[in-house]
Amino acid sequence: MQLDNLVEIKNIEKQAWEALERSIIYYKGLPVGTVAAYDVSVEALNYDQCFIRDFISSALIFLMKGRTDIVRNFLEVTLKLQPKEYQLDAYKPGRGLMPASFKVVSANNQEYLEADFGEHAIARVTPVDCCLWWVILLRAYSVATKDFCLAYRPEFQQGIRLIMELCLATRFDMYPTILVPDGACMIDRRMGIYGHPLEIQVLFYAALRAAHEMLIPQGNEDIIAAIDNRLPLLCGHIRQHYWIDMHRLNAIYRFKGEEYGKTATNLFNIYADSVPYYHLDSWLPKKGGYLVGNVGPSQLDTRFFSLGNLMAIISDLATEEQSQAIMNLIEERWEDLVGDMPMKICFPALENEEYRIVTGCDPKNIPWSYHNSGSWPVLMWMFAAAAMKTNRTHLAQKAFATAQSRLWEDEWPEYYDGKTGRLIGKQARKYQTWTIAGFLLTKELINNPTHLPLISFEELPPELVSRACEFELNNFDSILFG
Ligand code: GLC
Repeated sequence: MQLDNLVEIKNIEKQAWEALERSIIYYKGLPVGTVAAYDVSVEALNYDQCFIRDFISSALIFLMKGRTDIVRNFLEVTLKLQPKEYQLDAYKPGRGLMPASFKVVSANNQEYLEADFGEHAIARVTPVDCCLWWVILLRAYSVATKDFCLAYRPEFQQGIRLIMELCLATRFDMYPTILVPDGACMIDRRMGIYGHPLEIQVLFYAALRAAHEMLIPQGNEDIIAAIDNRLPLLCGHIRQHYWIDMHRLNAIYRFKGEEYGKTATNLFNIYADSVPYYHLDSWLPKKGGYLVGNVGPSQLDTRFFSLGNLMAIISDLATEEQSQAIMNLIEERWEDLVGDMPMKICFPALENEEYRIVTGCDPKNIPWSYHNSGSWPVLMWMFAAAAMKTNRTHLAQKAFATAQSRLWEDEWPEYYDGKTGRLIGKQARKYQTWTIAGFLLTKELINNPTHLPLISFEELPPELVSRACEFELNNFDSILFG
């Protein structure tokens, strides 16, 4: 690498750190989080708040750099915002939920925190992912500090427990996945992801794994038993029913519909005509595959969603073979999924009638923009982590090289538009914190893969794997070969 280049990179990094420092929020004199964006050129709306999901990227880079205090403070203050009482008021957040965001309010010389559980958010969306991210972050903190004392504190044990109770409660359907409304995660607008979206299921899986590591057995026997029961079922369900490659596409293509009773092979009654074969037939590489976006009654959403697929690799939810196949797909379809800015939030975009019906004519989610197949730099760190886990360091480096000087020149936009991400997002904020943190995190993960265990998981313990395999064997054969 040339010296000029090296100096420039160091400079970019320095400026990224300065911008990240500027985004820190203080509460009673202590750093407790980061704002979503520090863009003085536009009205802040709620971007001056600390979003739980956005803070994960900041938190991870802080942890890697030994700045554990801010993460600890964040975990402590957000835990206090979690509702602890069981109540039946429809307008109050459910017990155990974590807010989407919070802000520091000053009044009468006093400071207090105000949380938003979706009651202020556009379209009043529920942040289901935030409580899952919170558990994942608490475990990352414990791994990074090699100290589980915080997680073992009674109030933290209660916090984890309430989240587990909320997620593991029996509901109306009988799937191992969780049923959620539209816009319950990073995509917090109507995008046809209600039901059982991949992103939530993968975060649920990682949160179950994290909670399992942190819950003290004594007194939590019931929850731990419920987690032990759920993990292999969830894992088997995702690996089997969400997976798509040429082999599986062939099986689906010949599915019979309207099967009744226990011997049904097409369990969700997917109508073969609803699957876009002609797109997938040419798009799926021979050795590639991925986890689809959503599976439900007569529903197989074959859009590729990056966060879910990447986190499935990182959390070990995807098998080793599937993880390699997902990376093969990304490598082979680089133009579509990475292009000029890593990386697409989903692919392909909803267009024409589909866009109008599914998004409700959302002017922000027009085709190839924002959530509807825009490119989000924050996803680059997840791509880097997945690449490191699957020994594809060169892909992480390639993505990083594409992004680095552009992000700085463009002042760290929230997202990019267009088929290959060459346009700065139509309504993108500048100085978006998770873009900045994601850039720093990517670089750190590439240079120092020993940080990977903060966010990644190893294989399921053998006793649970054997149950997952049993489940897969019993079901896979019948699905594929009838
Ligand atoms: C947008 C994103 C959401 C993010 C928020 C703050 O609404 O869709 O995922 O948390 O901005 O950055």
